[in-house]
This record gives sequence, structure tokens and C-alpha cells, in this order.
Amino acid sequence: MSDAPKKLHIKTYGCQMNVYDSERMAEALSRANMGTGGYELTDDPAQADMVLLNTCHIREKAAEKVYSDLGRLRPFKEANPDLKIGVAGCVAQAEGEEIMRRMPLVDLVVGSQNYHRLPDMVRATASGAHPVDTEFPVEDKFEHLPERPASGRPTAFLTVQEGCDKFCAFCVVPYTRGAEVSRPAARILTEARKLVEKGVREITLLGQNVNGYHGQGPDALGGGDWGLAQLVRALARIDGLERIRYTTSHPNDMDDKLIAAHGEEAKLMPYLHLPVQSGSDRILKAMNRKHTAEDYLRLIERIRAARPDMMLSGDFIAGFPGETDADHQATLDLIAAVGYGMAYSFKYSPRPGTPAADRAPVDAAVADARLQELQALITRQQRAAQEGMVGREVGVLFEKPGRLPGQWVGKSDYLHAVHATGEGLGQGVLARVRITASAPNSLAGERISA
Ligand code: SAH
Ligand code: SF4
Ligand code: F3S
Repeated sequence: MSDAPKKLHIKTYGCQMNVYDSERMAEALSRANMGTGGYELTDDPAQADMVLLNTCHIREKAAEKVYSDLGRLRPFKEANPDLKIGVAGCVAQAEGEEIMRRMPLVDLVVGSQNYHRLPDMVRATASGAHPVDTEFPVEDKFEHLPERPASGRPTAFLTVQEGCDKFCAFCVVPYTRGAEVSRPAARILTEARKLVEKGVREITLLGQNVNGYHGQGPDALGGGDWGLAQLVRALARIDGLERIRYTTSHPNDMDDKLIAAHGEEAKLMPYLHLPVQSGSDRILKAMNRKHTAEDYLRLIERIRAARPDMMLSGDFIAGFPGETDADHQATLDLIAAVGYGMAYSFKYSPRPGTPAADRAPVDAAVADARLQELQALITRQQRAAQEGMVGREVGVLFEKPGRLPGQWVGKSDYLHAVHATGEGLGQGVLARVRITASAPNSLAGERISA
């Protein structure tokens, strides 16, 4: 038997939590963790001994894409009968065994909370088993996954909270990720310190409802129940960690302490993704959002009072069941009132098992037209926000070389992609940059000499 490591190809769909999970799955299946039976990553599915699809169930299109991608793997499996194919993530959690019935080429199905069991499941496939594990386990997958190796990148995701108890009427997340669970603060701080030792300068804390974080405080710091503001303040004390972000937040969990932290913690970046979904109170009620448009606008005022340069981003759904032209107009009005730096809009997609799925749909052409209108307004705002950066000085954390000689690319404090030139730039360098020009999807600038 050859000693060459087996190759693993992972394709990641959906949100950043899946990106984080994919990294952890790669580590769980690595030689460092599994010994000679372990895998190393390949970008090329044709080279792979195992392909894992880490899937998303949020909208029908995302879920159906998984099945078309599985169909595309068929020739690889025919060419190499030893190829193993696994489905992980939220479609796996939602559909379980059904996936194998529809796609018999699938060898294993692992739900979003069971990645620590992957090595055993993969070993079982070697003897022809077809394991399916979508139970919500009592143990915490993170505590049973190996330590993260250095990625070489200056930025990292760190999941601090998973699941959702909010049950918005359109959303599958409470079903695919389960109830809200927050990781203990001490473990998060340890993971963050290790990342910083490995060269990470920026950490994005992840959770489906990250600002609803309420984890056990470290015993050494008096224990108790920590909120996200406390966690952020403790992270900010880690030397070498320069930037902290978090996503995604729910308006109802944006408490005074967290708002105050935005005014006081220089490491907490002035960019906040705070989805509201609609500007109509009637629709917000039908969505079970438990806040009004006015509540949201007041909240934005308070956030901007603490941090006037806060760049806001949001999510919107067009064509939720029962949405009228007036409701749609209310959403456009809310977007105009807030002025987003960035926003995402989606056509409502009925999801099996969610309350809204049984309600009478909005005419598809009407929903399409509304989506177009939302997107046009959002694009104008994004462009204006980006052009407003020209002439300003911003912090940029550089991540990789640009296309031109001497040029480096990174992210501004406000999460804009920035191409810059100047002395001493390199991976992981955090520098002040004067923005000189705005292109459709990025900014250009020059480093301000120190
Ligand atoms: N936890 C986050 C994000 C959840 S999913 C939050 O509460 O905001 C990301 C976005 O997908 C949502 O904000 C919503 O705008 C969109 N989305 C979720 N379910 C959807 C559905 N059934 N149809 C269309 N868009 C949906
Ligand atoms: Fe879904 Fe609502 Fe929970 Fe966000 S808050 S994950 S939209 S149920
Ligand atoms: Fe999709 Fe699951 Fe994330 S449904 S958006 S991958 S939590």
C-alpha cells in the first residue's frame, strides 16, 4: 500500500460558520489527527479520494445546488470506485438518509453538530458502511476536534455560538443548527490566543445569533454569565490581536453594553451586519421578528451615537407571503433612512417545515421585480459609501499580494477590499492607508508613511 497521503476535496456552501466548520473537518481528517489513514486537502475534485460537500439549506436554490453538484461527481466515482463522497452541513442535518435515497453515490451523511465523529465515520466507509449521523449530540463538537494548525493567514473565524431560538417564520436555521448554545469564554480565549501565536491579527467571532452570546465566564475572572460585550473586551486585551469583528447579530440582542463597547474598544471594528429583513411592521410581525421598523431605526441611532462612523450592513427578503406594494415601499424607505454600506437581498424561498411555507405566496414576477428594486437601491448606497471613502485615511490589514508589482490587498476597518502600494507592506501588516480611488468592488490607496 502506498504511503502517499490520501486527498480530500471540500466544497463549502452557505455562511461563514460553514467555512469555519470546513476547516475543522479538514483538521479532523488530517494525518496529524488520523495518522496514515488521514487526508490532505486538494482543490481538484478529480484528484480526490474523498469529496465532502459542506452544504447550506437556507434557500431552495442553495439546497438543490448540492444535488446537481452530487450528480456532477458521478463520473469521478465511476472512474474511481474507491472515491468516497460525504455530505455535511445543513442539508445533511435537514434531510439525513433521504440524501442517500436520492443520490446512492453518497457514502456518508454527517449533520452540522457531529463533525468530531467524522474520522470514525470515514473509517467505517472503508469497509463499505454508509454511516448517517444527524443526532444533536450532548457533547460539544468543538471540544472533541483537534487543535487548529497555522493557516498562514492573518484573519480567522472563531465560532462562539451556534444555533438559534428565534424561529423567524421563514428560516430553517433553528432546525438545521438546533437550539442556541454558547461556548464557554475560557475556551474561546484560549483558541484566540493560540490563533494569535500563529500569526492571526484579526478574529471574526461567529454565531447565527452572535450578539445573543451568553457563555460561562472564566473561573479565573469570577465566572458568571458573560455576554458578547464582556467577551469582546477580554479578547481586546490579547496582545497581538489587532481587530475584532462579529457576525451575525439580531437587533433584539444588541444590548447597551455591546453598543458601549463599540464606542470604547478601538479593536472592535466599525462594521456591523444587523439584518432587519423588512421595513414593514405588518411583515415583521408575520415574520415573527419581534421588533418594529421604528425599533430598528432607534437602535441604529444609538449605535451611531456610540460610534458615528459605523458602517452598517443588512439582509432583506423580497416577496415574503402577504407582502403588498406598500410593505415593499416601507422596506425601500427603511433602506433609504439607514444608508447601508453593504446589504444583501434575497427572494423569499419557502422552506419545508417552516411556518411561512404554508402561506399563500406572492406572485413570482412581482417578487422578482421587488428584488430588483431592492438590489438597485442597495447597489447605489454601496457605491456611494465606497466613493465616500476616497480621500479618507483608514486602517488596512494586508492579506495577499496584488496583481501589480509592489501592490498588496487587504481589508479596511470597514471591510472594503483595498489595493495599496507603499513601503513595508506584507502579509499581516496593519497600516494606515489614504484612499485615492474607488473601483466597483474595491478601493485603491497608498500607505501613509509612519
Ligand atoms: N442569523 C442571521 C442570518 C440567517 S440566514 C440572522 O438572523 O439575520 C441569512 C439570511 O438569509 C437572512 O438574514 C435572511 O435574509 C435570508 N433568508 C433566510 N431564510 C430565507 C428564506 N426562506 N428565503 C429567503 N431568504 C432567507
Ligand atoms: Fe434565522 Fe431568524 Fe434565527 Fe436569523 S434570527 S437564524 S433569520 S431564525
Ligand atoms: Fe446555510 Fe446552514 Fe449557514 S442553512 S446559511 S449553512 S447555518
